[in-house]
Amino acid sequence: MVSLMREEGYKATILSPSGNLYYMTGFDTFPGERFLAAIFTASDEVVFIVPKLYEQEVRETASFDRLLAWDDSQDPAELLLGVVEQYGLHGGSIAVEDTMWFCSFEKIMKAFEGTSFKPASNLVGKLRVKKSPEEIGKLKIAGELADKALANILASIKTGMTELEIKEMLEKEMKLVGLSAPSFDTIIGSGSNSALPHYTAGSKPISEGDAVVVDFGGIFDGYCSDMTRTLFIGKPTNEYVEVYNTVKEAQQKAIDAVRPGMSASEIDAAAREYITSKGYGEYFIHRTGHGIGMEVHENPYISEKSSTILEAGMAFSIEPGIYLPGKFGVRIEDIVVVTESGALRLNNFTKELTTI
Ligand code: CO
Repeated sequence: MVSLMREEGYKATILSPSGNLYYMTGFDTFPGERFLAAIFTASDEVVFIVPKLYEQEVRETASFDRLLAWDDSQDPAELLLGVVEQYGLHGGSIAVEDTMWFCSFEKIMKAFEGTSFKPASNLVGKLRVKKSPEEIGKLKIAGELADKALANILASIKTGMTELEIKEMLEKEMKLVGLSAPSFDTIIGSGSNSALPHYTAGSKPISEGDAVVVDFGGIFDGYCSDMTRTLFIGKPTNEYVEVYNTVKEAQQKAIDAVRPGMSASEIDAAAREYITSKGYGEYFIHRTGHGIGMEVHENPYISEKSSTILEAGMAFSIEPGIYLPGKFGVRIEDIVVVTESGALRLNNFTKELTTI
């Protein structure tokens, strides 16, 4: 990161608890009201300022050069000012974690008078967007374990079970197969709920004639999986079969379009144009995909407006969907990695129309 910072003229980068901090230092925690940040200087030093109650954990898990701990009787702003003075960080440009809480950013603004602030994602994102072979290895296992968890519970899904019961069963199975935690709130949307793309799960029992969107993933060694399959309870209607096949074909077209040099918007277009040609364009109401890594949503985003050019090592979802309000929805999602020869799929659970 130091060479990127120097190239782009940054004096320092300041990260608060976030996927960026975890990626850069190995320290993983939630943001809170107590000031906690790592300052990366252009002279290649990493200084942590942490509340005393985090000190031990940071020492054990993070990589850094210096650690300054403060207790609740002290003001962390003074430590921050000391670092600014010692490393001569006044003036110029500083990159700051995009998701930092304002109460922390306010202290930084005061300590760094006369400085212009830019989002750190511009810098760290460049490093994170292309995965190393080791990272791809972890994403691959996370994907395989998600496939396995769904396969293991499929026969146990029965009419009359509620969405929440299925969600609980799937999340329990994810742990059993070796995923440490869900990477996001599992979605089990049945019947008309399947037409709500970001519905989670509720007390509705699944019944004959329901489409069921199952969108879930888990974390393996810090790396996320995310996949979606849509199941049908009973004998599918002609309309469902048509919509299902349209989504399946659109997803395949987008996967087939993946190769280095294509733009993310062209991948989105491959799925969107097919869905539109079948008359369902207005019912595909979200982007085609999102990057994935230590966070379940990160760069690159696969959307109509994205100008990102795909490079080998990028990992993202391809998840077109069609949502008929009040009726049902269908979404199919796999994670792919860009390789020199095209897309490598990290999910291999069947995409044949599955009924229960
Ligand atoms: Co997704």
